[in-house]
Amino acid sequence: MTQTFFILGGYGGTGRILCRRLLQHTDVSLIVGGRSKEKAEVFAQEIKREFPPERIRATYAEASQYDSLVLAFQGVSMIIVASTTPQYAGLVAKAALAVGADYLDYHFQQDVVETLKGLEGEIQKAGRCFITQAGFHPGLPAAFVRYAGKYLNPYQKAFIGMAMGVSPNGKIEKAESLYEIVDVLQDPRSEIFKNGQWKKGDYKDTIMMDLGPFGRQRCYPMEMQEIFPLPDMYKALTDVGVYVAGFNWFLDYLVFPIGMLLGKIKKGCGRNFLAQLMAWGLNHVRGYGEGVAFAIHAVGEKNGRPLSLHVLATHHDGYDFTAIPVVACLRQYLEGSIKKPGVWMMGHLVDPEKLFVDMEMMGVKFIFRHPPS
Ligand SMILES: NC(=O)c1ccc[n+]([C@@H]2O[C@H](COP(=O)([O-])OP(=O)(O)OC[C@H]3O[C@@H](n4cnc5c(N)ncnc54)[C@H](OP(=O)(O)O)[C@@H]3O)[C@@H](O)[C@H]2O)c1
Repeated sequence: MTQTFFILGGYGGTGRILCRRLLQHTDVSLIVGGRSKEKAEVFAQEIKREFPPERIRATYAEASQYDSLVLAFQGVSMIIVASTTPQYAGLVAKAALAVGADYLDYHFQQDVVETLKGLEGEIQKAGRCFITQAGFHPGLPAAFVRYAGKYLNPYQKAFIGMAMGVSPNGKIEKAESLYEIVDVLQDPRSEIFKNGQWKKGDYKDTIMMDLGPFGRQRCYPMEMQEIFPLPDMYKALTDVGVYVAGFNWFLDYLVFPIGMLLGKIKKGCGRNFLAQLMAWGLNHVRGYGEGVAFAIHAVGEKNGRPLSLHVLATHHDGYDFTAIPVVACLRQYLEGSIKKPGVWMMGHLVDPEKLFVDMEMMGVKFIFRHPPS
């Protein structure tokens, strides 16, 4: 029997692409849900013209209202959270448990992991599979590190770098979509593992990385929960971290410093103003490149000889590059290979090689620079 997935925020920027990709690359049916039933219905009508209409429905679902979620989730086997609602992750997760559904979110906010871990006992008991930190950042860093881990022994260093630019078709439509980035800017976390120790990354820890179409970029440390378990998995690792390049001069030298300064006065200070400035800057000021470049530079040995490995993935659209790994992960889930009870971070759950194959099939370009195994 085909399954029904619920896409909360399914008519948003990443949600719209995710819905289309799910209809294209899986056989699931979808319910598009959100706090505006009208917007959900308009979008459902749009995709009903492209895909079999019986696979698509629309409904109202408000992430902050438990009863509305439980009502909307009836008969669904998987809840996918594509809404900008990390503050309600616990509520959405509880509603998923109440209707006996599995769960996946790709929120950028890192504290969602802790929220879901707090429910792990109930999730295990119910035999449900909860996947968090899906997407590309989070989502891909641990998958890339684990991919390189198949080639390197001992495995000594892994640097993940990424650069993003807005593509002509992927303009930021509303400032609210950027609130999570403003929150992180004002409460910056940048833990990296350097010289065998965890440390808060600062300007001295920036690195230069070759990011394909973006060129060589100076990248800044960015904390990702999925990085924390890696030194325990690869005992010889002395360095592992996630690093991100700037966007453009307007954001890097004007908006970010102002945002950080306001954040020092009070967290949340100027949130909407900063998000508006950021959206304007992303949409109107030329960036260092378009789309996304995501890379790993990994160092270690193979058969007693030093080996360094570089993998670069690029795509012309950041929204699509978020949806593609989610769909690739869900294809492994649907096949049954990763569907197991508990709370999992996507980057630790998926088979990286299979993920790459599916991402390539969906249009991501990979360049692998390492000797054949
Ligand atoms: N992992 C990654 O690589 C990655 C990359 C990019 C984004 N993200 C994450 O993806 C999520 C979505 O981002 P986006 O850029 O697609 O945002 P977006 O374009 O702003 O879309 C957000 C969607 O959520 C809906 N929504 C907002 N508040 C809601 C509520 N209280 N109840 C129900 N629905 C609500 C919106 O509906 P309305 O239009 O009616 O407000 C909209 O459909 C965010 O959490 C972001 O951090 C992750």
